[in-house]
Amino acid sequence: MTVESVRPAAPDAPELSEPPLAGGAVPVLGHGWKLVRDPLAFMSQLRDHGDVVRLRLGPKTVYAVTTPELTGALALSPDYKIDGPLWESLEGLLGKEGVATANGPRHRRQRRTIQPAFRLDAIPAYGPVMEEEAHGLTERWRPGETVDCTSESFRVAVRIAARCLLRGDYMDERAERLCVALATVFRGMYRRMVVPLGPLYRLPLPPNRKFNRALADLHLLVDEIVAERRASGQKPDDLLTALLEAKNENGDPIGEQEIHDQVVAILTPGSETVASTIMWLLQVLAEHPEQAEKVRTEVDSVTGGRPVGFVDVRRLTHANNVVVEAMRLRPAVWILTRRAVTDTALGGYRIPAGADIVHSPYAVQRDGRSYAGHLDFDPDRWLPERAQDVPKYAMNPFSVGNRKCPSDHFSMAQLTLITAALCAKYRFEQVSGSNDATRVGITLRPHRLLLTPVPW
Ligand code: HEM
Repeated sequence: MTVESVRPAAPDAPELSEPPLAGGAVPVLGHGWKLVRDPLAFMSQLRDHGDVVRLRLGPKTVYAVTTPELTGALALSPDYKIDGPLWESLEGLLGKEGVATANGPRHRRQRRTIQPAFRLDAIPAYGPVMEEEAHGLTERWRPGETVDCTSESFRVAVRIAARCLLRGDYMDERAERLCVALATVFRGMYRRMVVPLGPLYRLPLPPNRKFNRALADLHLLVDEIVAERRASGQKPDDLLTALLEAKNENGDPIGEQEIHDQVVAILTPGSETVASTIMWLLQVLAEHPEQAEKVRTEVDSVTGGRPVGFVDVRRLTHANNVVVEAMRLRPAVWILTRRAVTDTALGGYRIPAGADIVHSPYAVQRDGRSYAGHLDFDPDRWLPERAQDVPKYAMNPFSVGNRKCPSDHFSMAQLTLITAALCAKYRFEQVSGSNDATRVGITLRPHRLLLTPVPW
């Protein structure tokens, strides 16, 4: 099926009907209680109810799209914008003026400003930092010691994003603050999205106070980064300089608030998603030592024994496939929303203007209708001869269309290099106290992954 065939041109055509209501709604909370109790299982079974289904979240009706084709159609259609429960709650974090929440001409202008820093031909310049940070990890870790994967993954993700894109002299103390602030803020945002109890979140209760403190520290950190750059008087060729020199639609310099929100909008999704993915990579390497061994053998054959470097990334196909497969089964971004800007249609169903649409890359990427052995960790499914069997839009961890993650090349390069550097030196074992169960928030990550590195 093609995208065109699932997007009827006339939304008011008589044959369009309302999507079916998913089963299991209860009075008042609707499907909200199921989303809170077991969101991954809930989203994963929705396709059994239809290609598009209606959900009730408290008083709201939300439409869920469940097939790969329709998630692609949704992402590529001009009839939807970034909005809805996820983005409303994220605006409190990201600000209203950053690229991730903007729409229309402002969004296009902001993408033009940030895009050059992420272009394929810009990535090699980040190679030395990525190498240093990837090898830095293996040097910090001692055989037999316990590695707290949450803080270590955050640390390396924040350092790579900040050192490459903001050329920040990013000390560990800042990475640690950012990690703590983001964990609290993202947890609070998720709660506010799933259980929208409005004014209750403004009461001076301990969890609300903790959330507000974390949010304030996040914004303070960003102010510090911008102020430091200005005080330095330097203008290195990086994303922060591009933001500080950006002009708006009238050719005037963009305002302070927009600069601030843009840094937040790049640094926060950048560190949370990459850190969560590194945690899952470590989890699968511990669970599948044979895969760690296979990456190690590949690294040896590509490098001939010298330290693996950025130049090797292109040839590390198995390491790359391990990363892709980890992202398939545990996508950091597991849920996304859009809002219809006009009366429109999806999969033969009428979607009214203003409707919120939700879909889950987690559910789509684990669907047995798209993948043989759908729950198996099988990196070889990404070998070219097998990858062609994967339906279009069934594997989209960075999304498609005008909101596609700008950082796909940047992220894949660092994740592949980190995987290669880790496996070249160690295999991993979980230690007592480790809990690798999935913790659901705005991103997915293990609850508390504790590993010990074991030299080969
Ligand atoms: C494993 C790593 C990552 C994953 C899986 C990921 C995933 C995504 C996805 C799915 C979107 C689209 C959201 C939507 O369609 O609504 C997105 C957008 C975005 N991502 Fe990423 N991302 C990753 C890393 C990064 C990094 C490292 C950065 C920056 C340093 C970044 C910056 C952004 C920005 C700015 C947007 C908003 C783009 C726009 O709205 O035009 N991401 N990301």
